[in-house]
This record gives sequence, structure tokens and C-alpha cells, in this order.
Amino acid sequence: MRRPVRIAVTGAAGAISYSLLFKIAAGEMMGKDQPVILQLIELPHAMDSLRGVAMELMDCAYPLLHTITLHDNVEDGFNNAHYALLVGAKPRGPGMERSDLLEENAAIFARQGKALNDYANRDVKVLITGNPANTNALIASRNAPDLSPSQFTCLTRLDHNRAKGILANHSGATTRDIGGIMIWGNHSATQYPDLHQATILGKPALSQIDTAWYRDEFIPKVQKRGAEIIEARGLSSAASAAQAIVDQMRDWVLGTEPGEITSMGILSDGSYGITKGIFFSFPVRCNYGRYQIVQDISVNEFGRKRLTETEEELLEEKAVVEHLLPKETEASH
Ligand code: NAD
Ligand code: LMR
Repeated sequence: MRRPVRIAVTGAAGAISYSLLFKIAAGEMMGKDQPVILQLIELPHAMDSLRGVAMELMDCAYPLLHTITLHDNVEDGFNNAHYALLVGAKPRGPGMERSDLLEENAAIFARQGKALNDYANRDVKVLITGNPANTNALIASRNAPDLSPSQFTCLTRLDHNRAKGILANHSGATTRDIGGIMIWGNHSATQYPDLHQATILGKPALSQIDTAWYRDEFIPKVQKRGAEIIEARGLSSAASAAQAIVDQMRDWVLGTEPGEITSMGILSDGSYGITKGIFFSFPVRCNYGRYQIVQDISVNEFGRKRLTETEEELLEEKAVVEHLLPKETEASH
């Protein structure tokens, strides 16, 4: 049996974690031969609820679940973590502006970045889910000067999976028959779900579906899916978000399928003309625990406009929190 790996999860008593933790313990994220130690982190007032979740995890008798530890602060919770899933965040309250949400979460993710810097394993891989995920990832990474920004990613796999599921449902194919989906930009309504490289049963998707449906229905549907689910459930997506976290982390660690593209929110290195230093979803391939942006994809005028729109939104978000960001170092690029 392999040595267990340490996985820290914030917001561990929340709705997403109530699906996520059980999938991790069952081996869906790190593989069916990899024991795990779960370091679960919550706010002090949610510790009772967290103890209940831990009891349930124990009661599943998962063979791969080595140990569970519970923490009411990130400094203890991130100790020696090989993987950190930053799920907890402050939700938007009544009358709160987006900028208030950005600022309140900036303080939380600054502390979490510092704690990762000071206490986590030097090779920690971090995935930020708490919204606004891209800008929270920027704040956390900038507060971790001793870690590489490439160790930080934000969740856009949910948008990727949504695009795939919605296209499969529309075309009558199964998701297994669909490849080449790409999500560009922010995890928000400005994201660009791009089907120009997508295939259904090996043939270009756009030759098999109506362009008007793609532009006028598919794109807004994927962009606004989170809001549509909140409207229908009265709560934000949870099980599908948990699945996406598992998928994104598993691909990052164990690699994407040969020839397959996925989407991850990562620090822009200037590829495709996107401003360096913002977290932006790009098409990537993963191998040996690393991700690489898929280069040389042609982006037409329609796509370029959408890339610029979502890039501008991320630059505006960055401007709102700029005063809270530590000075940029060489490593931030
Ligand atoms: P939830 O409210 O059910 O749970 C969040 C939990 O986080 C709560 O238990 C809360 O006590 C805890 N928490 C808050 N701040 C914390 C902190 N500083 N440290 C530790 N724990 C903290 O919410 P949820 O449905 O689990 O969603 C969590 C976040 O994920 C939200 O911000 C949501 O908007 C976001 N989300 C992102 C995506 C994505 O694709 N990126 C998708 C769905 C949801
Ligand atoms: C989602 O895409 O489902 C969430 O990001 C929505 C939200 O605001 O929690």
C-alpha cells in the first residue's frame, strides 16, 4: 500500500463538501490505490456540524480513508498538506455589492494563502472553488511568495462539464462521444464556452449543430447555469461542483486522457494575448502532475471578442482588490 497523502479541505461542513469528502474517501480523486488523510477545516461555529460529517465518513468504513483531523483554523488545517481544496467562502448577503463580496473574500483568501505558504507541503497543489474563484486564487497565490503561482488553480471544470453535458443532451450523443470542449476566462457569466474545436463522434461539433443554437442558446445557458440552478433549487450547485473538483484535481495529478483537452483556471502567462497575472481558464493537458496550456488553437473574431470581455471583467475584479495584494514579485509572473 502507498503512503497516505494529506488533503486539506476548507468549508468542510458545507454543501459541496458533503458530496466531495465521500468521493475523495472512496478513491475517486487520487486513485483507488491511494490512501488519504483528510484535514477538515471549518469556522469555529460550524465545528459541531463538522464532527457529524466526520462521524459519517468513519461510518462508511472506506478502506482508503487513513485518518480524519478537524480544525477551526487554516494554520493547523494546512499543516503538511499535499493538496488543498479551498471550498469555503463568504456567500453574497442581502444588499451586498459584488465589490463587497470581492473585498470580504480577499481577506479570507489572503490569510489562506499565507497559511499555505507557511505550513503546507512545499509541493502543495491548491484548487480554489469558493467564489469569486478566479480572483480568490489570485489573492491566495500572491500571499504565498514561497510557493509557485503554478501551484494554484481555480475551478472551471464545472463549466467544462456543464458544456459537455448540455451538448450531449442536445445532440443525442453521450458525453463519452464528445471531445475538445474549452472554457475560457472567468467562472462567471462572461466565460466563453468554446465549441470550435469540439467533436461529436470524432467529427466537428459545429458542423452537426445549428450555429444559432450554439451562439444564442448554448453559450448563455452554460454562462448562466449556476444562477439557473440557484433559481431552481434555492441553493447553489453542490453535487456537480464536487464532481468537478474531483475531476479537475484527478486530471491534474493523474493526467488527462491521451489526446483529450480539459479546462482549468490558471495564472495567465500571456498565452492567447491574455494579460499576464490574472487567473483565467485555458484549455490544458495534464501529465506527470503538471498542466500545459494547449497552444496554437485558432480563435476567430467572435471568440476574440468573448475572450476580451471575460479578460476585462477579471482585470476589473483585480482592480477592486489591488490595494489588498502584496507587491508583485518575479515569481508572480
Ligand atoms: P456552503 O455555504 O454550503 O458551505 C460553505 C462552508 O464554508 C460553510 O460551512 C462555512 O462555514 C465555511 N466557511 C466559510 N468561510 C470559511 C473559512 N474562512 N474557512 C473555513 N470554512 C469557511 O457553500 P457551498 O455550497 O459548499 O459552496 C462553497 C463555495 O463554492 C461558495 O463560495 C460557492 O459560491 C462556490 N461555488 C463555486 C463553484 C465553481 O465552479 N467555482 C461552483 C459551486 C459553488
Ligand atoms: C455555480 O456555478 O454553480 C456557482 O458558482 C454559483 C454560485 O454563485 O454559487
